[in-house]
Amino acid sequence: MSTFQSLPKAVAVIGAGTMGNGIAQTFATCGVDTFMVDVKQEFLDRGVAAVHKSLAKFAEKGVLTADQADGARKRLVATSDMGCLAKVDLCIEAVTESLDVKTKVFQAADAAMPSHAILASNTSSISITVLGAKTKRADRVVGMHFMNPVPLMKLVEVINGNDTSAATTEAVLAWSKGLGKIPVSANDYPGFVANRILMPMINEAAFALMEGVATREAIDEIMKLGMNHPMGPLTLADFIGLDVCVSILDVLKEGLGDDKYRACPLLRRLVHAGHLGRKTGKGFYDYKQGK
Ligand code: CAA
Repeated sequence: MSTFQSLPKAVAVIGAGTMGNGIAQTFATCGVDTFMVDVKQEFLDRGVAAVHKSLAKFAEKGVLTADQADGARKRLVATSDMGCLAKVDLCIEAVTESLDVKTKVFQAADAAMPSHAILASNTSSISITVLGAKTKRADRVVGMHFMNPVPLMKLVEVINGNDTSAATTEAVLAWSKGLGKIPVSANDYPGFVANRILMPMINEAAFALMEGVATREAIDEIMKLGMNHPMGPLTLADFIGLDVCVSILDVLKEGLGDDKYRACPLLRRLVHAGHLGRKTGKGFYDYKQGK
């Protein structure tokens, strides 16, 4: 865990979903006063329950002491009141991957935050430059792309928008280190680095399955054992969400103007059928009956 050298005093995370609650948990565990903001109480309740479950797991394993887990629980305030943003040095947006939704959240956050505060997005593929231009603080807008599951994964992909200032990037790199993470910088091009490389691999695995090159299990096993990946690409796609994978591929195809990023028809068909992966109980694999 962190040594707490460099961290904001207070942070707000907008969005209590998987990424948002994982980010909020990480800050709260490192001693930061943390607000987790969402529009509905049921979303907040679900987010808080996920954080408590994860903290309990870490305490059970001895990664955190009971006191540290308790401190994190107390420092995390779940609220639907955007007024809390007036108190923060950093706000991280982690809402649904839609430009319209993110624009609304960014404009509301920009209006509610103090002028010195940094506004970050956890977007996996939407342009930081575009989001920054929707605000009056483009120099203090930056990408902080955490990986799922956030409490376990070390990487923060830090994305510089066209007008992100060097001071903003430096602050976010230092804070990410303060969280015990390893930040790595990238510039603002479609998919940044992580998804520009990950999504074509997942897409190719879907094509291989569609064309009958091998079974889903064989494709995953070959990539797991052959490349030493912790999960095969089809299992990972189910973990990320097939809808998320398709929307990132669409951003890559549109933004880079290259058909090589076209989403595999099988991937798209599963999304149309509502089989989005683990979160709906079915994707490439069936989670209701076990794999
Ligand atoms: N909090 C606390 N503990 C957790 C946890 C959490 N949020 N999530 C998992 N764990 C624990 C599990 O409970 C388990 O504990 P036990 O050993 O006591 O059972 C332990 O971590 C290991 O988990 P698993 O046994 O389920 O399986 P694993 O050894 O395969 O580890 C994993 C799980 C860390 C997720 C690993 O499979 C992995 O690294 N997978 C790849 C993840 C990845 O690629 N993430 C990036 C996705 S892309 C993205 O996020 C960005 C994007 O823009 C799309």
